[in-house]
Amino acid sequence: MNRLFASLLLCGFIIIQAFAAEEKLEDFQVDTSVIAMDRGVDAFMNSCHGCHSLKYVHYRDLASFGIDKERIASWRGDSTLDSAMTSLLSDEAALASFGKVPPDLSMIVRAREGGASYVYSYLTGYYITPDGKTSNHFFPLTRMPDALEISTATDPVKRVEIIEQAHDIVSFLSWAADPHEAERKSLGYYVIGYLIILTVLLYNVKLQVWSRLKS
Ligand code: HEC
Repeated sequence: MNRLFASLLLCGFIIIQAFAAEEKLEDFQVDTSVIAMDRGVDAFMNSCHGCHSLKYVHYRDLASFGIDKERIASWRGDSTLDSAMTSLLSDEAALASFGKVPPDLSMIVRAREGGASYVYSYLTGYYITPDGKTSNHFFPLTRMPDALEISTATDPVKRVEIIEQAHDIVSFLSWAADPHEAERKSLGYYVIGYLIILTVLLYNVKLQVWSRLKS
């Protein structure tokens, strides 16, 4: 009986330890400014697009957001403005290099529990283990290399730069998950404005009709 009690106590202790050891996600606030998005798409094209596609985002969407057309042209190469932002890495090459095809990132902030906070924590969560291997606090067995090279950056200024870059990339990916959100919102304001004007006009018509009926 005593042994059973001791094992139960040990199990409970191990479970509590496991929860306590779980890393807490960084709280992420999306920056929707054009400047952040501009830096984010740039960093994405330089550090992520080689392996990851954004198949639900088209180059034209970048233009409609206000990103310079010449820069878009330098990224899209021979693809047209209406093409999706597919990656240059073929599935076969990805499988040969990583044993896995890197996921499409169009919807990644919606697809993962923790959303943008998870993606941001993951990108900045790489570190070097005591035996010299690269690991990640939030996805220890990930096959993705440390794309932003935060695990080997020791200079505090460089680390801040990388963290800001991750911030911009995740802001861009949050926009990518719903590129038409801003348009929808502004359309919503127009519709509400239109309905208010229509209500006022109809009310006036009603007053006129009734005043005629009364007299
Ligand atoms: C050299 C290729 C490569 C580069 C560059 C790269 N990734 Fe990845 N990425 C991968 C692979 C491979 C996986 C699959 C990891 C796995 O499931 O083990 C992955 C997975 C991911 C995931 C999903 C993690 C999860 O929870 O399943 C996210 C998010 C991600 N990458 C974001 C990025 C971002 C943002 C960048 C640019 C800063 C980037 N990646 C650069 C290869 C790459």
